Amino acid sequence: MSTWPGLVAFAPDHHRTDRFRCGVEQLDVWLRAYAGQSQRRDAARTFVVLEEDRVIAYCTLVASEIDHGGATSEVRRGLSRHFPIPVCLLARLAVDERHQRTGLGRHVLRHALGRALQAATEVGMRAVVVDALGGASGFYRRFGFAPVDADGTTLMITVAHLAAVIGQTDG
Ligand SMILES: CC(C)(COP(=O)(O)OP(=O)(O)OC[C@H]1O[C@@H](n2cnc3c(N)ncnc32)[C@H](O)[C@@H]1OP(=O)(O)O)[C@@H](O)C(=O)NCCC(=O)NCCS
Repeated sequence: MSTWPGLVAFAPDHHRTDRFRCGVEQLDVWLRAYAGQSQRRDAARTFVVLEEDRVIAYCTLVASEIDHGGATSEVRRGLSRHFPIPVCLLARLAVDERHQRTGLGRHVLRHALGRALQAATEVGMRAVVVDALGGASGFYRRFGFAPVDADGTTLMITVAHLAAVIGQTDG
């Protein structure tokens, strides 16, 4: 089992983000400048791992939908083309540089997918989708996400496969 502390809901008034650096500036800026307001306006849900009061890793989940043309064959299989495909977007996932390659990303992914699986029992969603920034495609492939496009930036996994992936990320 992971020894990392559990993730908690991001509280911008209490959690410090000023020193967070993951190597992808877009992800640092989003945490510092936009995660709080998105949380307050119900536009995103962000969960963080803390070291004292500092954020050392985070993930953000939002509801979304994709066209059939933007789905893998597995995700679109059996679904009517008349409707877009409801998904959970893993909009952000990042680990502070000081803690990368220590298993923290796996820990955060496990938590994010667990949340998505829980939400899927109440709100219909077919898959979890991620846009892998900064060369993180291999990280998601490692856990069973399949790429949609040739460059491997957008990846997805069906909700039906989430339980197995969560098991794989345990440890
Ligand atoms: C990508 C990221 C989230 C991975 O987190 P991490 O804590 O460094 O990864 P972990 O230590 O948990 O690694 C888990 C497994 O994934 C592998 N892995 C980690 N990063 C990888 C990468 N970029 N490509 C391929 N595999 C990777 C590890 O080798 C490990 O495999 P193993 O279990 O076989 O040893 C983190 O490096 C990061 O925040 N990078 C910058 C921001 C970013 O690109 N975020 C994704 C955009 S959505």
